[in-house]
Amino acid sequence: MIKESVAEAINKQINAEMYSGYLYLSMAVDFGEKNLDGFQHWMRLQAEEELGHGMRFLDYLQERGGHIELQAIEKPEIQWDTPLEAFEFVYQHECKVTGMINDLVDLAEKEKDRATVNMLQWFVDEQVEEEDSANEIVQKLKMVGDSPSALMMMNEKMAQRPMESGEPEE
Ligand code: FEO
Repeated sequence: MIKESVAEAINKQINAEMYSGYLYLSMAVDFGEKNLDGFQHWMRLQAEEELGHGMRFLDYLQERGGHIELQAIEKPEIQWDTPLEAFEFVYQHECKVTGMINDLVDLAEKEKDRATVNMLQWFVDEQVEEEDSANEIVQKLKMVGDSPSALMMMNEKMAQRPMESGEPEE
């Protein structure tokens, strides 16, 4: 049976992943209202991916016999002035999530919970990808600058994001 301290921390992480999903869904809505349908598509898939992360933690906790108690999800921000501002926000948020995952690893190690350390390795690897894909888009948006035609081209590329990848197609 999983230790209470670890179960409690995983419960918090379920909430954090659901919040990430809610945040990205809010960004998708904002992009949609600005007719940036490619960015909307990318962000909606990202929101779904985050809900999947939450479910992954939930399934694990259930499998280990931990008590699950879903908490209220915080209201996300609702507007960003530019796609660059939105993706800088994503990048900062993902860095914060990486810190949370690392704290979870530290706790699981302290509690000598090898199964949880092992489960968390998937998330450690995932965070490397999440930070990288957000940062790559930030850098591309910086190159786009104030050019509406470059933004439209990028919007088209963002529309090509397949389900399994965080990268826009080249
Ligand atoms: Fe679930 Fe984007 O980290």
